[in-house]
Amino acid sequence: MLIALGVSGGIGAYKAVEVARGLQKRGHDVVAIMTHSATNFVGPITFEAITRRRVITDQWEAGANADIEHIQLASTIDLLLIAPATANIIGKLANGIADDFLTTLYTATRAPVLVAPAMNTQMFSHAAVRRNMDRLAADGVRFVEPGEGYLACGWIGKGRLAEPEEICDAAEAAVRPSASLSGRRVVVSAGPTYEDLDPVRYVGNRSSGRMGFALATEAARRGAAVTLVAGPTSVAPPTVDTLVRVRSAEEMHAAVTAHARSADAVIMAAAVADYTPDVRAAQKVSKTEGDLTIVLRRTPDILKALGAERASTGRGTVLVGFAAETEDVVARAQAKLRSKQVDLIVANDVSRPDAGFDAETNEVTLVTSDGVEAVPLQSKARVAAVILDHVERLLAARAPRPTAQT
Ligand code: PMT
Repeated sequence: MLIALGVSGGIGAYKAVEVARGLQKRGHDVVAIMTHSATNFVGPITFEAITRRRVITDQWEAGANADIEHIQLASTIDLLLIAPATANIIGKLANGIADDFLTTLYTATRAPVLVAPAMNTQMFSHAAVRRNMDRLAADGVRFVEPGEGYLACGWIGKGRLAEPEEICDAAEAAVRPSASLSGRRVVVSAGPTYEDLDPVRYVGNRSSGRMGFALATEAARRGAAVTLVAGPTSVAPPTVDTLVRVRSAEEMHAAVTAHARSADAVIMAAAVADYTPDVRAAQKVSKTEGDLTIVLRRTPDILKALGAERASTGRGTVLVGFAAETEDVVARAQAKLRSKQVDLIVANDVSRPDAGFDAETNEVTLVTSDGVEAVPLQSKARVAAVILDHVERLLAARAPRPTAQT
């Protein structure tokens, strides 16, 4: 595999030399890219001697632009690894700033990106850095957490670049994705549903689809065949095996039910409308002087129907629902767990601005018949990973993983 190793300007840059060597020992080809600041810590010649390749230190080097080097490299690398990543480079990546070779490569590549931050403890815990890291995680970037201990600046705490061996392990895992869900079929629903009143108006909700998209991304990364049933959102859905676009609760019901038949797990992250207008006007409803009364009728509860069907057929599909609540969150989630006869309810307190609807981050409680598990505030990508770890345990308890067909 070809790995681009981005080195930014922190004292941990010297450890990046060992990372380059470690990756090579694992059979990877490494191309080093150094920011201008990084060259103050380690000379490019060191990386050149190790990687046996020209080290890229400048976007404007003579001879480097004949075939637009950052674009050419962007499409050939299997991984972009940035170690060490300073607060500055993390901020640039999170905000799409592309003002040197490394940041331009980041925006141009569609290869997985792994970032190993290293900085002073206070900087690492600063709200701006946390925000930028959460944003990157939501964009699919993975991190190798820094270690704790004595830092070069004299402080003691979290911020030291992870050990080269750990970084190489994480890089290996990123280029050779986990296959823990291979052979499994996972259906994920995401986003809102829109219930049309007339050709121009609808009843909807604030779901962005991000939570469901993060789940679909993580399930696909783990090797599952993913069907994503997505309501109308402005956030772009991830690449999955099957994407079904729907608009209304009725359409979502039909799509989820059809795909659930062959699924090993169904995860309902969508905010499905509970009610839909009794009548959809064929033409735009004109206003009158008086008030307007709209009669709403119940939509089918998709998850409840799947739970009831499973209870009657004894099929082994793992069923996961969410509970978006603003009060008595866990108690209401426990009631939903029972009434919908599912394995797991992800209780979501949607009264907070930093969790639930349309946020980049989420904080949830996993509710099962065995108890509750709090999942602290973090990116939706990381919350998705915790939920899928749980789904994997449920799948393992139900039925052995299917063996590959020859
Ligand atoms: O999309 P984001 O902006 O990232 O926001 C994420 C989220 C807040 C939408 C998500 O995390 C969430 O909480 N989704 C469930 C929202 C919801 O509809 O909750 P509920 O408590 O009303 O429904 C309970 C469960 O039944 C849900 O799994 C829901 O998908 C399902 N349901 C609800 C109604 C219905 N007619 N059919 C269903 O299957």
